[in-house]
Amino acid sequence: MLKNQTIKIGRNDPCPCGSGKKYKRCCLNAKNPKPVNIEKLYQQKYGIRLKQPKDIEGIRASGRLVIETLDLMEENIRPGVTTEQLNTIAQEFADNHHAVSAPLNYRGFPKSICTSINEVICHGIPEDRALVDGDIVNVDITLIYNGYYADANKTFFVGTPGPDARKIVHVAAESLKQAMTMLVPGNTLGDIGWAIQQYAEDADCSVVREFVGHGVGFEFHEPPHVPHYGKKGTGILLVPGMVFTVEPMINLGTARLFVADDNWTAITADRELSAQFEQTFVITEDGFESLTPYAL
Ligand code: MF3
Ligand code: CO
Ligand code: CO
Repeated sequence: MLKNQTIKIGRNDPCPCGSGKKYKRCCLNAKNPKPVNIEKLYQQKYGIRLKQPKDIEGIRASGRLVIETLDLMEENIRPGVTTEQLNTIAQEFADNHHAVSAPLNYRGFPKSICTSINEVICHGIPEDRALVDGDIVNVDITLIYNGYYADANKTFFVGTPGPDARKIVHVAAESLKQAMTMLVPGNTLGDIGWAIQQYAEDADCSVVREFVGHGVGFEFHEPPHVPHYGKKGTGILLVPGMVFTVEPMINLGTARLFVADDNWTAITADRELSAQFEQTFVITEDGFESLTPYAL
């Protein structure tokens, strides 16, 4: 059901009818205010570009390749494999499917995928170091296919996990699941962050603040920011056609982090484990669809 919520328009804001005039000079006091144009309103007010059915189809097709890549990663992850080898496998898959790896050369990122091991929170750079039994490794894949971006990641066990690894991976996966229960028109971005924070902190884990989910589809990172913490009922109202990622990074210890000398690798300040799961979602008339679906 749609909650009774409204979007506040200031007198000097662009008119929600999409005329391009100020609200006060257009529909505010008009006898016959024109209907709200939600596409224009979200573009003008938040910089959010809502997606049309053909765009969603395009992102879904890109997302299918992302999921196939993650499956391929899972098949290849075992003790002894290097993250450089995973990078090569992912890049070859993209090449063979007419897709482009979005991370490669993005703001100077040197590889095609992000591989984040154990205390690395995100943006780990593939390298010539072998995975070890008991590690956890997050692989983050973003592809551009036919002009459309889809973005997803998963944290995998390497060999046999210990209790801490099991716990953090479970809590991170469940955090994304909790977020998904909030993906319905009429809820807000704050509801998503609230659901994640509530669950993760109840489980005695912490939520990373410095990195957030994001709009995606036409570009790698579009408005809005999607924080993984927050207050119920706050923030932008979810409306059909919004496409964004949710990608909670959950830590076993402190939420604090530092970035390594490579200017990318984000590491927990106490070097305790961190895990993450990410999918790309579209808000529909009655809920949501994952455009990068996998079981959690
Ligand atoms: N895929 C990451 C995300 O979920 C972004 C990686 S940026 C890169 O937003 F440059 F490291 F690839
Ligand atoms: Co993302
Ligand atoms: Co990602």
